Amino acid sequence: MDKIKIIGGNSLFGKVYISGAKNTALPIICASLLTDEPVTIKNIPFLSDIKSLNSLLLQLGTDIVEKQEILNGHNTQTITYHTPKPTSLIAPYDYVRKMRASYYVLGPLLAKYGHVELSLPGGCAIGARPMDIHLSSLEQMGANIEIKNGYVVADIKGRLQGARISFHSASVGATCNILMAATLAQGTTVIENAAKEPEIGDLIDMLITMGAYIEGKNTSTLTIHGVEKLHGVTHQIINDRIEAGSYAVAAAMTHGRLELVNANAEHLQTPLDILRKTGVNVEITPNSIIVDAQNAELKGVDIYTDYYPGFPTDLQAQFMALMCVSQGAALVTESIWENRFMHVPELMRMGANINVHGHASAIVRGVEKLSAAPVMSTDLRASFALILAGLVAEGETIVNRVYHLDRGYETLEEKFKAVGANIERIKESD
Ligand code: UD1
Repeated sequence: MDKIKIIGGNSLFGKVYISGAKNTALPIICASLLTDEPVTIKNIPFLSDIKSLNSLLLQLGTDIVEKQEILNGHNTQTITYHTPKPTSLIAPYDYVRKMRASYYVLGPLLAKYGHVELSLPGGCAIGARPMDIHLSSLEQMGANIEIKNGYVVADIKGRLQGARISFHSASVGATCNILMAATLAQGTTVIENAAKEPEIGDLIDMLITMGAYIEGKNTSTLTIHGVEKLHGVTHQIINDRIEAGSYAVAAAMTHGRLELVNANAEHLQTPLDILRKTGVNVEITPNSIIVDAQNAELKGVDIYTDYYPGFPTDLQAQFMALMCVSQGAALVTESIWENRFMHVPELMRMGANINVHGHASAIVRGVEKLSAAPVMSTDLRASFALILAGLVAEGETIVNRVYHLDRGYETLEEKFKAVGANIERIKESD
């Protein structure tokens, strides 16, 4: 497995081009299954999660044509997905195991073809990650669902039926899945307590262009009037707010100045407010966010993760790394996932002072310096937090299990090198 080597101490200066949003690309790629016409998606990031989802779609019979395109100064992928007639309605274990978001094929395949078999993804490092909301909602829409040999087997005679559904948690995944399914249902579906993340707004925009009738974008009540058919579309996905937030922390921790080109500040209001409270200067331009920490003293600030527009759980680990080198104490509370402090023991090995209380909260007391160490993590965002710690630690940090980073951060070493970090990938064969 590849590793990343970082020699800490360099302040970062320059531009980071923010890529298309992974968590938007994944449901939007699956939404292409709702039509038998071609769907072209622009601004898809080069990530292993996208490759994994593409292999699943290939095995379902989707024709995929990829090309590279420069958008706003940044190299991106434009991919056309065309599924005139699927050759399989089964999402096998090997695909879903590699990439949980494969479960986004559930809603579209069931709504369009009346049958789907999806391997249950199971839990993962950050928590149990149940699918009860996805499944009970589809049942309320008339689907017959059974769990057989680790698979969800879902069937519907005729079309899914519109229903009034109330989610017990504002789940991002369930909102996308049920939204997609409801576009082809008979009658009107109302989703109450829907998630409001920007990724969902982008999916709604694309579905509307495909011919869907959806009301309530950016609110917690979505009303979908089902139609018989959706058509092809060309859609450019939004940029990745979590990637932008991660590099914003890199500028802050290294007392540098980074311009995050193509980042959308509207999607990052809560994290940017926290950054300002730590003492960092944040400037918004029409096409970028400038994070300037050259004169910042960095003070600890409390963080509470919550559903959007609250502080995103996917930035909790990175901001905790920042609090490790800020003055004073910060209380970090994780309210979305039950096991999302796996970075804590690794940060402590680098000299951080953190006390975890139960599953949900941790007190971070800032230290003057971190020291380099070999570290590893079991999830994507926590791995980035360790990179951040390495950037400011004294000495050489080796971050193991780089495949986590490759799932969600496009060309990470190149982006960091371009702004002055001393970072390199050590290939398995080296
Ligand atoms: C998505 C993101 C992930 C992010 C998370 C929360 C993708 C590919 N992943 O994950 O990076 O951390 O949103 O912002 O977009 N829940 C249930 N039952 C369900 C579904 C969810 O109880 O059927 C609970 C979960 O246990 C969790 C909460 O709802 O406590 C949020 O989960 P959800 O929003 O569904 O997360 P994902 O869509 O899996």
